[in-house]
Amino acid sequence: MSTQPIGIFDSGIGGTSVFKEIEALLPFENTIYLADSANAPYGNKSAEEILNLSIKNTELLISRNCKLIVVACNTATTNAIKTLRTSYNVPFIGIEPAIKPASLNSKTKAVGILATKGTLTSQLFHETTNVYKKDVHVIEQIGDGIVPLIEAGKATSSEMKDLLKVYLKPMIDANIDYLVLGCTHYPYLMPLLLELLPHNVKIIDSGEAVARQTKAVLEQQHLLNTHTTKATHQFYTNATVEIIQTLLNEKYPVDYLKF
Ligand code: SIN
Repeated sequence: MSTQPIGIFDSGIGGTSVFKEIEALLPFENTIYLADSANAPYGNKSAEEILNLSIKNTELLISRNCKLIVVACNTATTNAIKTLRTSYNVPFIGIEPAIKPASLNSKTKAVGILATKGTLTSQLFHETTNVYKKDVHVIEQIGDGIVPLIEAGKATSSEMKDLLKVYLKPMIDANIDYLVLGCTHYPYLMPLLLELLPHNVKIIDSGEAVARQTKAVLEQQHLLNTHTTKATHQFYTNATVEIIQTLLNEKYPVDYLKF
C-alpha cells in the first residue's frame, strides 16, 4: 500500500486526457501532473531535446516522491522512455499509438494515424507499426500546428477545422475505417473529428489502455493505495494556468511553477 502520488507529465495540457482515464479507473490514487507548456510542442524538437525535457520533468516528479511515472506524451514516450527506464528506479508507463487494435480490426484494410513528427519518425514507432501493418495500408499524417492551437485553447476553432480538413483528406480518400490518435492532445479534437470524418470511421486513442496498464503495474509492484479516502490531485504548469483549468472543468487547483 502506498499513498505516494502517481506522477504524470506531458509537453502541455494534452496529458490531462490520460489523467482523466487514470482518475476514473484508480479513484483513490493521488496524482501530480506537470504540463510543460512553456516547452510545447515537443513534436518538432530533436530526440536529444525531447530526452532532456523528459529527464527534467522526471526529476521534478521524483523529488515530489512519486511512486510511478506516466509519460502522458507520445513524443516523449517514443523518444525517451527507454532511457528513463534504465536511469531511474521507478516504474514508467508510456503511451504509444493504438496501431495494433486498429490494424487487427480494420475491415477496409486502411488505417489512418495522426501524430507528431517526433512520434512518426521515431524508431520505437516504426518497430511497433511494422509488426501490425503487414496487410494493412497505414496512412501516416504529421499533425503540424495542432498542438500549439490546443495549447492556445483553440481546439474547436475554425483554424483547427481548416487544418484538419487538409490532414484528413488523404485518409478519407484511402477509405480508412480507423483513425488512431497518436498524441495525447488529440482527444480534444473529438468534436471536429466527428464532424469531418465519415460515420463508419472509428477513432481510437490510448488513454484507457494506459490507465489499465498503470493499475496492473501498481498491483504487480504492491504500490496500490488501499486507502479509500478522497484522492488529492495537484496540477502544475510553467505557462498559462487558465487554459488547463478550463480543460479540467475548474475541478482542481492548478498552480504556476517554474520548471
Ligand atoms: C507535442 O508536444 O508536440 C505533442 C505531444 C504528444 O506527442 O503527445
